[in-house]
Amino acid sequence: MPDVSINLDGRKALVTGGASGIGAATAKFLCDLGAEVAVADIDADKARASLAETGAKHGVGGDVSDAGDADRMVSEAAAALGGLDMVLNSAGIGDDLVPVHVQDPERWQRVVDVNLRGTYLVCRAAGAIMVKQRSGSIVNVSSIVGLGAFPGRSAYGVAKAGVIHLTKTLACEWGPVGVRVNCIAPAYTRTPMVRSLLERKVFDPGVIERRTPLGRFAEPEEMARAAAFLLSDWASYVTGAVVPVDGGWSVYAAAGDVDKGTPLDA
Ligand SMILES: NC(=O)c1ccc[n+]([C@@H]2O[C@H](COP(=O)([O-])OP(=O)(O)OC[C@H]3O[C@@H](n4cnc5c(N)ncnc54)[C@H](O)[C@@H]3O)[C@@H](O)[C@H]2O)c1
Repeated sequence: MPDVSINLDGRKALVTGGASGIGAATAKFLCDLGAEVAVADIDADKARASLAETGAKHGVGGDVSDAGDADRMVSEAAAALGGLDMVLNSAGIGDDLVPVHVQDPERWQRVVDVNLRGTYLVCRAAGAIMVKQRSGSIVNVSSIVGLGAFPGRSAYGVAKAGVIHLTKTLACEWGPVGVRVNCIAPAYTRTPMVRSLLERKVFDPGVIERRTPLGRFAEPEEMARAAAFLLSDWASYVTGAVVPVDGGWSVYAAAGDVDKGTPLDA
Protein backbone atom coordinates (compact mmCIF):
# COMPACT_ATOMS: atom_id res chain seq x y z
CA MET A 1 0.00 0.00 0.00
CA PRO A 2 1.65 3.32 -1.03
CA ASP A 3 1.82 6.14 1.52
CA VAL A 4 -0.95 8.45 0.40
CA SER A 5 -0.60 11.09 3.09
CA ILE A 6 1.11 14.45 2.67
CA ASN A 7 4.21 13.98 4.77
CA LEU A 8 6.38 17.02 5.46
CA ASP A 9 8.66 15.33 8.00
CA GLY A 10 11.79 17.39 8.49
CA ARG A 11 10.86 20.05 5.93
CA LYS A 12 11.72 23.58 7.00
CA ALA A 13 9.05 26.21 6.43
CA LEU A 14 8.72 29.96 6.95
CA VAL A 15 5.25 31.48 7.24
CA THR A 16 4.98 35.26 7.07
CA GLY A 17 1.96 36.80 8.76
CA GLY A 18 2.04 33.55 10.69
CA ALA A 19 0.79 35.02 13.96
CA SER A 20 -2.81 35.32 12.77
CA GLY A 21 -5.51 34.10 10.43
CA ILE A 22 -4.55 32.15 7.31
CA GLY A 23 -0.84 32.28 8.22
CA ALA A 24 -1.40 30.89 11.72
CA ALA A 25 -3.72 28.15 10.45
CA THR A 26 -1.15 27.16 7.81
CA ALA A 27 1.75 27.24 10.27
CA LYS A 28 -0.21 24.88 12.51
CA PHE A 29 -1.21 22.58 9.65
CA LEU A 30 2.36 22.36 8.34
CA CYS A 31 3.52 21.45 11.87
CA ASP A 32 0.78 18.79 12.06
CA LEU A 33 2.14 17.35 8.79
CA GLY A 34 5.63 17.08 10.28
CA ALA A 35 7.31 20.29 9.11
CA GLU A 36 9.54 22.47 11.23
CA VAL A 37 8.12 25.96 11.03
CA ALA A 38 9.24 29.52 11.70
CA VAL A 39 6.70 32.31 11.98
CA ALA A 40 7.46 35.87 10.88
CA ASP A 41 5.18 38.76 11.72
CA ILE A 42 5.35 42.52 12.10
CA ASP A 43 4.37 42.01 15.71
CA ALA A 44 7.32 40.13 17.23
CA ASP A 45 5.50 39.42 20.50
CA LYS A 46 2.51 38.03 18.62
CA ALA A 47 4.86 35.91 16.49
CA ARG A 48 6.49 34.41 19.56
CA ALA A 49 3.15 34.01 21.37
CA SER A 50 1.76 32.06 18.38
CA LEU A 51 4.35 29.30 18.79
CA ALA A 52 2.41 27.62 21.60
CA GLU A 53 -0.76 27.50 19.50
CA THR A 54 0.77 26.54 16.15
CA GLY A 55 3.60 24.28 17.29
CA ALA A 56 6.08 26.38 15.29
CA LYS A 57 9.68 26.40 16.50
CA HIS A 58 10.77 29.97 15.99
CA GLY A 59 9.18 33.41 15.92
CA VAL A 60 10.72 36.48 14.36
CA GLY A 61 9.48 40.06 14.11
CA GLY A 62 9.83 42.49 11.21
CA ASP A 63 8.10 44.35 8.41
CA VAL A 64 8.02 42.37 5.15
CA SER A 65 7.93 45.61 3.15
CA ASP A 66 11.36 46.60 4.49
CA ALA A 67 14.18 44.98 2.51
CA GLY A 68 16.48 44.71 5.53
CA ASP A 69 13.76 43.16 7.67
CA ALA A 70 12.75 40.71 4.93
CA ASP A 71 16.36 39.54 4.46
CA ARG A 72 16.88 39.26 8.21
CA MET A 73 13.66 37.32 8.84
CA VAL A 74 14.40 34.83 6.07
CA SER A 75 18.01 34.27 7.13
CA GLU A 76 17.08 34.07 10.83
CA ALA A 77 14.37 31.48 10.05
CA ALA A 78 16.75 29.43 7.90
CA ALA A 79 19.43 29.55 10.61
CA ALA A 80 16.98 28.61 13.39
CA LEU A 81 15.51 25.71 11.39
CA GLY A 82 18.74 24.57 9.75
CA GLY A 83 17.51 25.24 6.20
CA LEU A 84 14.58 26.50 4.17
CA ASP A 85 12.38 24.35 1.91
CA MET A 86 9.03 26.13 1.91
CA VAL A 87 7.63 29.64 2.32
CA LEU A 88 4.06 30.83 2.68
CA ASN A 89 3.72 34.57 2.14
CA SER A 90 0.59 35.41 4.11
CA ALA A 91 1.56 38.79 5.61
CA GLY A 92 -0.89 41.37 4.36
CA ILE A 93 -3.17 44.25 5.25
CA GLY A 94 -6.58 45.29 4.00
CA ASP A 95 -7.54 48.65 2.55
CA ASP A 96 -9.98 51.44 3.31
CA LEU A 97 -12.61 51.03 0.58
CA VAL A 98 -12.33 54.52 -0.84
CA PRO A 99 -12.61 55.61 -4.47
CA VAL A 100 -9.33 56.63 -6.12
CA HIS A 101 -10.21 60.32 -6.61
CA VAL A 102 -10.45 60.89 -2.83
CA GLN A 103 -7.81 58.39 -1.75
CA ASP A 104 -4.74 59.25 0.30
CA PRO A 105 -1.79 58.26 -1.93
CA GLU A 106 0.35 57.41 1.10
CA ARG A 107 -2.23 54.90 2.33
CA TRP A 108 -2.47 53.46 -1.22
CA GLN A 109 1.30 53.05 -1.25
CA ARG A 110 1.38 51.34 2.16
CA VAL A 111 -1.20 48.74 1.10
CA VAL A 112 0.78 48.04 -2.08
CA ASP A 113 4.05 47.98 -0.16
CA VAL A 114 2.95 45.41 2.43
CA ASN A 115 0.98 43.13 0.11
CA LEU A 116 3.10 43.28 -3.06
CA ARG A 117 6.56 44.61 -2.20
CA GLY A 118 6.53 42.49 0.99
CA THR A 119 5.76 39.34 -0.99
CA TYR A 120 8.41 40.27 -3.54
CA LEU A 121 11.07 40.93 -0.89
CA VAL A 122 10.46 37.67 0.99
CA CYS A 123 10.42 35.71 -2.30
CA ARG A 124 13.67 37.46 -3.24
CA ALA A 125 15.39 36.56 0.03
CA ALA A 126 14.06 32.98 0.06
CA GLY A 127 14.89 32.57 -3.62
CA ALA A 128 18.53 33.38 -2.93
CA ILE A 129 18.64 30.26 -0.73
CA MET A 130 16.39 28.04 -2.84
CA VAL A 131 18.00 28.76 -6.22
CA LYS A 132 21.39 27.96 -4.72
CA GLN A 133 20.18 24.68 -3.21
CA ARG A 134 18.23 23.84 -6.41
CA SER A 135 14.97 23.12 -4.58
CA GLY A 136 12.16 24.84 -2.75
CA SER A 137 8.50 25.71 -2.89
CA ILE A 138 6.82 29.06 -2.29
CA VAL A 139 3.11 29.85 -2.00
CA ASN A 140 1.97 33.46 -2.19
CA VAL A 141 -1.42 34.69 -1.03
CA SER A 142 -3.37 36.72 -3.57
CA SER A 143 -7.16 37.25 -3.35
CA ILE A 144 -10.32 37.21 -5.42
CA VAL A 145 -9.69 40.98 -5.43
CA GLY A 146 -6.59 40.23 -7.50
CA LEU A 147 -8.67 38.31 -10.05
CA GLY A 148 -11.38 40.90 -10.69
CA ALA A 149 -12.01 44.57 -10.00
CA PHE A 150 -13.62 45.68 -6.72
CA PRO A 151 -14.62 49.37 -6.62
CA GLY A 152 -12.90 51.18 -3.74
CA ARG A 153 -10.15 48.61 -3.45
CA SER A 154 -7.63 49.84 -6.01
CA ALA A 155 -4.58 49.49 -3.76
CA TYR A 156 -5.37 46.01 -2.52
CA GLY A 157 -6.52 44.89 -5.98
CA VAL A 158 -3.40 46.20 -7.71
CA ALA A 159 -1.22 44.56 -5.06
CA LYS A 160 -2.98 41.20 -5.24
CA ALA A 161 -3.02 41.20 -9.07
CA GLY A 162 0.69 42.00 -8.83
CA VAL A 163 1.19 39.00 -6.54
CA ILE A 164 -0.32 36.79 -9.25
CA HIS A 165 2.00 38.18 -11.90
CA LEU A 166 5.01 37.96 -9.58
CA THR A 167 4.13 34.31 -8.92
CA LYS A 168 4.03 33.50 -12.64
CA THR A 169 7.28 35.37 -13.31
CA LEU A 170 9.14 33.60 -10.50
CA ALA A 171 7.75 30.21 -11.56
CA CYS A 172 9.33 30.77 -14.99
CA GLU A 173 12.57 32.26 -13.62
CA TRP A 174 13.23 29.55 -11.02
CA GLY A 175 11.53 26.53 -12.63
CA PRO A 176 14.74 25.50 -14.43
CA VAL A 177 16.42 24.93 -11.05
CA GLY A 178 13.46 23.10 -9.50
CA VAL A 179 12.04 25.90 -7.36
CA ARG A 180 8.23 26.06 -7.58
CA VAL A 181 6.15 29.19 -6.96
CA ASN A 182 2.35 29.13 -6.80
CA CYS A 183 -0.38 31.22 -5.29
CA ILE A 184 -3.80 30.86 -3.72
CA ALA A 185 -6.55 33.40 -4.26
CA PRO A 186 -8.84 33.22 -1.23
CA ALA A 187 -12.31 34.68 -0.94
CA TYR A 188 -13.83 35.84 2.35
CA THR A 189 -12.23 33.83 5.16
CA ARG A 190 -13.13 34.10 8.83
CA THR A 191 -9.88 35.63 10.11
CA PRO A 192 -9.25 38.66 12.35
CA MET A 193 -8.84 40.78 9.20
CA VAL A 194 -12.34 39.91 7.96
CA ARG A 195 -13.88 39.95 11.43
CA SER A 196 -12.74 43.57 11.85
CA LEU A 197 -14.32 44.49 8.47
CA LEU A 198 -17.56 42.79 9.56
CA GLU A 199 -17.53 44.58 12.92
CA ARG A 200 -17.08 47.91 11.11
CA LYS A 201 -19.99 46.90 8.83
CA VAL A 202 -17.78 47.42 5.77
CA PHE A 203 -19.82 44.71 4.05
CA ASP A 204 -22.92 42.64 4.66
CA PRO A 205 -22.10 38.94 5.22
CA GLY A 206 -25.48 37.86 3.82
CA VAL A 207 -24.76 39.51 0.46
CA ILE A 208 -21.47 37.64 0.24
CA GLU A 209 -22.97 34.29 1.23
CA ARG A 210 -25.72 34.64 -1.38
CA ARG A 211 -23.14 35.60 -4.07
CA THR A 212 -20.95 32.53 -3.28
CA PRO A 213 -21.83 29.20 -4.97
CA LEU A 214 -20.87 27.26 -1.80
CA GLY A 215 -23.02 29.70 0.19
CA ARG A 216 -20.67 30.51 3.08
CA PHE A 217 -17.42 32.12 4.18
CA ALA A 218 -14.23 30.02 4.31
CA GLU A 219 -12.43 28.91 7.45
CA PRO A 220 -8.66 29.64 7.67
CA GLU A 221 -7.99 25.87 7.79
CA GLU A 222 -9.44 25.54 4.28
CA MET A 223 -6.76 27.95 3.02
CA ALA A 224 -4.13 26.03 4.98
CA ARG A 225 -5.01 22.77 3.23
CA ALA A 226 -4.75 24.32 -0.25
CA ALA A 227 -1.47 26.02 0.64
CA ALA A 228 -0.01 22.83 2.14
CA PHE A 229 -0.87 20.87 -1.01
CA LEU A 230 0.91 23.41 -3.21
CA LEU A 231 3.91 23.57 -0.86
CA SER A 232 4.23 19.79 -0.72
CA ASP A 233 5.62 17.26 -3.20
CA TRP A 234 2.04 16.32 -4.06
CA ALA A 235 2.18 19.41 -6.26
CA SER A 236 5.60 18.48 -7.67
CA TYR A 237 4.56 19.33 -11.27
CA VAL A 238 2.57 22.45 -10.35
CA THR A 239 4.23 25.84 -10.70
CA GLY A 240 2.95 29.29 -11.66
CA ALA A 241 -0.59 28.23 -10.76
CA VAL A 242 -3.20 30.55 -9.30
CA VAL A 243 -5.63 28.47 -7.28
CA PRO A 244 -8.86 30.24 -6.33
CA VAL A 245 -9.92 28.93 -2.92
CA ASP A 246 -13.14 30.84 -3.05
CA GLY A 247 -16.22 28.62 -2.84
CA GLY A 248 -16.80 29.31 -6.53
CA TRP A 249 -16.87 33.12 -6.20
CA SER A 250 -14.60 33.79 -9.20
CA VAL A 251 -16.49 31.56 -11.64
CA TYR A 252 -19.97 32.91 -10.84
CA ALA A 253 -21.05 35.15 -13.69
CA ALA A 254 -24.85 35.25 -13.54
CA ALA A 255 -26.86 38.24 -12.35
CA GLY A 256 -28.14 38.27 -8.77
CA ASP A 257 -27.87 35.72 -6.00
CA VAL A 258 -26.70 32.17 -6.63
CA ASP A 259 -29.79 30.67 -5.01
CA LYS A 260 -31.99 32.67 -7.40
CA GLY A 261 -30.60 30.56 -10.24
CA THR A 262 -31.96 27.26 -11.57
CA PRO A 263 -34.10 25.52 -8.92
CA LEU A 264 -32.37 22.24 -8.03
CA ASP A 265 -35.42 20.44 -6.68
CA ALA A 266 -37.81 21.28 -9.51
N1 LIG B 1 -9.26 36.80 5.21
C1 LIG B 1 -9.66 36.89 3.96
O1 LIG B 1 -10.85 36.86 3.66
C2 LIG B 1 -8.65 37.03 2.86
C3 LIG B 1 -9.12 36.94 1.54
C4 LIG B 1 -8.21 37.04 0.50
C5 LIG B 1 -6.87 37.21 0.78
N2 LIG B 1 -6.45 37.32 2.07
C6 LIG B 1 -5.03 37.51 2.29
O2 LIG B 1 -4.58 36.50 3.16
C7 LIG B 1 -3.46 36.97 3.89
C8 LIG B 1 -3.69 36.73 5.37
O3 LIG B 1 -4.84 37.48 5.76
P1 LIG B 1 -5.65 37.16 7.09
O4 LIG B 1 -7.06 37.34 6.77
O5 LIG B 1 -5.14 35.90 7.68
O6 LIG B 1 -5.21 38.44 7.95
P2 LIG B 1 -4.74 38.60 9.45
O7 LIG B 1 -4.80 40.07 9.72
O8 LIG B 1 -5.46 37.68 10.35
O9 LIG B 1 -3.21 38.13 9.39
C9 LIG B 1 -2.25 38.88 8.70
C10 LIG B 1 -0.96 38.86 9.51
O10 LIG B 1 0.02 39.61 8.76
C11 LIG B 1 0.75 40.39 9.68
N3 LIG B 1 1.31 41.55 9.00
C12 LIG B 1 0.64 42.64 8.57
N4 LIG B 1 1.49 43.51 8.00
C13 LIG B 1 2.72 42.95 8.08
C14 LIG B 1 4.00 43.38 7.68
N5 LIG B 1 4.19 44.58 7.09
N6 LIG B 1 5.06 42.57 7.90
C15 LIG B 1 4.88 41.37 8.53
N7 LIG B 1 3.69 40.91 8.94
C16 LIG B 1 2.61 41.70 8.72
C17 LIG B 1 -0.26 40.80 10.75
O11 LIG B 1 0.35 41.22 11.95
C18 LIG B 1 -1.09 39.53 10.89
O12 LIG B 1 -0.57 38.69 11.91
C19 LIG B 1 -3.29 38.45 3.52
O13 LIG B 1 -2.32 38.55 2.53
C20 LIG B 1 -4.65 38.81 2.98
O14 LIG B 1 -4.59 39.89 2.09
C21 LIG B 1 -7.31 37.23 3.12
